[in-house]
Amino acid sequence: MALKVAIVGMGGIGNTHARAYVNDDLSEIVAVCDIIKERADAAAEAYGVPAFYSVKDLLASGIKIDCASMCTAGKENGGDHFTPTMELLNAGIPTLGEKPISNNLDEAKKMVALAKRKNVRYAIDLNHRFTPAAVRAKEWINEGRLGSLNIINMRMWIPNPNESSPHFHVRALHPHSFDVMRYFGGDVKAVQAWFRRGETMEGKKRRCWSNMQANVLFKNGILGHLTGSYDAGGSYGLERCEVVGSKGRVVIDEACEELTFYNRADSQTEHYHHLGGMTGFGETFASRIHAWLEQNKKKVKPSEVDGSGEEALKAQKIIEACITSFETNAIVTVR
Ligand SMILES: NC(=O)c1ccc[n+]([C@@H]2O[C@H](COP(=O)([O-])OP(=O)(O)OC[C@H]3O[C@@H](n4cnc5c(N)ncnc54)[C@H](O)[C@@H]3O)[C@@H](O)[C@H]2O)c1
Repeated sequence: MALKVAIVGMGGIGNTHARAYVNDDLSEIVAVCDIIKERADAAAEAYGVPAFYSVKDLLASGIKIDCASMCTAGKENGGDHFTPTMELLNAGIPTLGEKPISNNLDEAKKMVALAKRKNVRYAIDLNHRFTPAAVRAKEWINEGRLGSLNIINMRMWIPNPNESSPHFHVRALHPHSFDVMRYFGGDVKAVQAWFRRGETMEGKKRRCWSNMQANVLFKNGILGHLTGSYDAGGSYGLERCEVVGSKGRVVIDEACEELTFYNRADSQTEHYHHLGGMTGFGETFASRIHAWLEQNKKKVKPSEVDGSGEEALKAQKIIEACITSFETNAIVTVR
């Protein structure tokens, strides 16, 4: 039987989640919710389900909900997540939140702690790692095909003119970058970061720290680097991840579009274009949501959820360490 799904926050991304649920045999949408009445009503009309204007009313309705998507935004794209997420988790509803888990570390910790206390599945839409290319690369790493890992280089950039806060760029975009790096390299021990305010294409100085370079030391000794920008993208593409080992090297371009394996001892490469039929970043949402639905269907233990709240919290801790590193001109331990 299909899982009954409620979606909270019916902006662009809430509707992206909704389309993924509509197209997935594992789910049916049973309710939508937004504090902006017109948005909730439009979504209710589009998906043929009741509209709610608060999570409290949604929960009070008694509609059976197997799991929920939480797609609010707010300051630095994460400031509104806390209250509705706490309400859903408190009600025992498995919740898939959007990234960043929160722009506020204390609130992120509280959500993860509540999910643990209530023994509820809590995950975040860390969709960049839910691609056939990333999964295949991870398999190669686990099989030892790359040998002993030495280096992980990540680059992610999009053109984004948002100037709403000084650290909008690192807090809103790089939960993805650090999550992909952690996916391949494990936990991070320390970072050292520099930020730069760029210019718009019209030559206007930005207020947001819109460019960053960060050095990353993983706990297992792997050396990582992140290049990030809100002043690039466009024809420069979206992202590249390179994992370098003693025997082999893997490069993933545009999250899912190109996967290349380089054997250190042999110039012949192994290349996959659109592995698994995934052709572009837009398709990562459906893939991530399908994995979430499968895990709910199987009723996996909350501690076994892929792309969990806890993992998103770890990425956010790396981000805050980068900010501290830049502000104090120091190498910062991630705690
Ligand atoms: N995973 C990705 O690749 C990806 C890509 C883009 C954006 N995002 C994330 O998706 C999230 C949503 O982005 P968006 O562009 O759709 O934002 P948005 O501002 O367009 O939509 C958010 C909606 O949430 C509603 N809302 C706020 N508080 C609420 C509450 N308490 N209860 C119910 N509804 C509430 C708002 O009224 C709004 O309609 C952000 O966190 C963003 O970072 C993720």
